[in-house]
Amino acid sequence: MNIGHEAVLAGKHVVIVGGSSGMGKATAKMAQSLGATVTIASRNLEKLASAASEIGDGVRVSPLDTTNEQTVKAWAAALGPVDHLVISASSAAHGAFADLPTDDLRSMFEAKFTGPYVTAREVLPYLQAGGSITFFSGVLSRRPAVGATGLAAVNAAVEALSKGLALELAGRVRVNCISPGMVDTEAYASMTSEARAAMYEQVGASLPVGRIGHSAEIAQAVVMAMTNGYLTGAVLDVDGGHLVRA
Ligand SMILES: NC(=O)c1ccc[n+]([C@@H]2O[C@H](COP(=O)([O-])OP(=O)(O)OC[C@H]3O[C@@H](n4cnc5c(N)ncnc54)[C@H](OP(=O)(O)O)[C@@H]3O)[C@@H](O)[C@H]2O)c1
Repeated sequence: MNIGHEAVLAGKHVVIVGGSSGMGKATAKMAQSLGATVTIASRNLEKLASAASEIGDGVRVSPLDTTNEQTVKAWAAALGPVDHLVISASSAAHGAFADLPTDDLRSMFEAKFTGPYVTAREVLPYLQAGGSITFFSGVLSRRPAVGATGLAAVNAAVEALSKGLALELAGRVRVNCISPGMVDTEAYASMTSEARAAMYEQVGASLPVGRIGHSAEIAQAVVMAMTNGYLTGAVLDVDGGHLVRA
């Protein structure tokens, strides 16, 4: 039995929605280095072009807003056959239960749950037998935090979606979910560098590994989810031990 990543991804078409930034971009780089043909998708064409030139020759870019349902079907049809679909695109809304505007909550569910749901559904006809779908949740689903109850709930919804789909698509496509802990990505770019460094330091010190994560460490787990034929219906906690921290 050949379980080498290189052999399994060579010649495969890997589509990464959210591939212009953070963990999606790191996954695109790793998949490309392992021989895959990679397509990255997200809303901002400039960000996509800049990510593509960073990732290297041959990367395809395909603009998409997952929350614009009318456009997703045609976008998916233009992809051609797909072996592995990864969806890391999302946005997060923070706020106390009593204060978080309902519109912010709805937008977050659109971007992190409904958009990925619709995207996976529309790509499904083009997903090749033996392929995979990998969604992203986050550690808050099972270790909630004050001021992030809505985000905890949407993460839990994504995990339930992954497990349900693993059953519904059984025998054809495997479906898994990556649940990252805190990872240094562009998601925190709006913070001042001092505030960001202090947050990374504080969260990192609370974790068994003593630091926050790097995007490439999450990409490694996504490659595992794509290539391990015995893995489906799983939520992979790549979180530095966040779930077991004191
Ligand atoms: N970073 C962390 O500490 C952390 C912790 C726990 C969980 N997570 C989860 O892990 C996943 C990846 O996070 P990350 O930090 O790598 O994110 P990121 O760096 O902020 O990247 C998000 C990507 O999604 C794209 N995107 C956002 N909304 C979209 C939409 N509606 N349609 C299409 N593309 C869209 C963005 O590009 P455009 O803006 O150009 O569309 C970007 O490429 C997310 O689900 C996040 O919630 C992250």
